[in-house]
Amino acid sequence: MSKKILVLPGDGIGPEITTEAVKILNACRDAGLDVELEQALVGGAGYDAEGDPLPAATLDKARNADAILLGAVGGPQWDTLEDLSKRPEKGLLGLRKNLNLFANLRPALLYPQLAEASTLKPEVVSGLDIMIVRELTGGIYFGQPRGIEERDGERVGYNTYVYSESEIERIGRVAFEMAQKRGGKLCSVDKANVLEVTILWREVMNRLAPEYPDVELSHMYVDNAAMQLVRAPKQFDVVVTGNMFGDILSDAAAMLTGSIGMLPSASLNEHQQGMYEPCHGSAPDIAGQGLANPLATILSVAMMLRYSLGQAELAARIERAVGQVLDDGLRTADIAYPGTRQVSTREMGDAVLAAFLEA
Ligand code: IPM
Ligand code: MG
Repeated sequence: MSKKILVLPGDGIGPEITTEAVKILNACRDAGLDVELEQALVGGAGYDAEGDPLPAATLDKARNADAILLGAVGGPQWDTLEDLSKRPEKGLLGLRKNLNLFANLRPALLYPQLAEASTLKPEVVSGLDIMIVRELTGGIYFGQPRGIEERDGERVGYNTYVYSESEIERIGRVAFEMAQKRGGKLCSVDKANVLEVTILWREVMNRLAPEYPDVELSHMYVDNAAMQLVRAPKQFDVVVTGNMFGDILSDAAAMLTGSIGMLPSASLNEHQQGMYEPCHGSAPDIAGQGLANPLATILSVAMMLRYSLGQAELAARIERAVGQVLDDGLRTADIAYPGTRQVSTREMGDAVLAAFLEA
């Protein structure tokens, strides 16, 4: 039976980059991959058309899809919406929560061709290969109570940072298993010197460790982890952390690879149903100008093939095609430097497609 893929272009550069990624998906279909593609609205695009960043029809299609490819959501025109539940970001968070996509995999991999594009010295980042496993449906992003209210004559804003043992355990297991398949090292990042919720986090990680004797578990406070990521990033193999710390650290890790425009991600539930999206945002400042880097979205398609569609070979073929265009010296604006050839979003997509078809 053919697998269903839902494409959600979203806002800003979202439509441009998903267009390029869909070209690759179509090429996979021509090569025999049995998939059906559908599109729907999310984020600001959903709000403008339906008054809702996650229209009911979109959520329905998402539930029925085997995998979702998402561009990006958000933009300044929606930042002033008073009702937070109507903001584009709520569309994304709603998808993650409703589909129970608790395991967010963010691989920060340095393509050797891009060592010069990083703001860090090439010797610090060359050979970098980190997998950040971010918990995605809990923590302070979703904790209750939350709000802004009047107390003693002034407004007070508050959120709740909460994790249950079972939530910690299930993301912990994903991370331990990931470390088993990779370099055997797992670093759990917390703030256990201050926050009770992460004292529990650390306890649960320690409790799981004996079940994975082939994995070496370590712990690090999040402030130190931020420093170590820019000081000596190659010490990390797999990093597991909560929702907010993972959001922040994965942006830092992305820059190690030259550009956040290179970082794909997978968000999975227990049934390997997944949503695949670039880690970067909607970049409204460069939208519609052909400046966006489509590679993170194209690499997200590779992750989709690997994790939700059981097509590791096609995934590797896409990754090789990306390596090929980088070898050929093609660069979008974010990764261009003297001696390389700057190309547009579409030219980059077409070049990856050509390399994919030749392979
Ligand atoms: C990300 C983004 C989202 C997040 C935003 C757009 C809600 O920054 O996927 O990292 O904070 O999770
Ligand atoms: Mg983020």
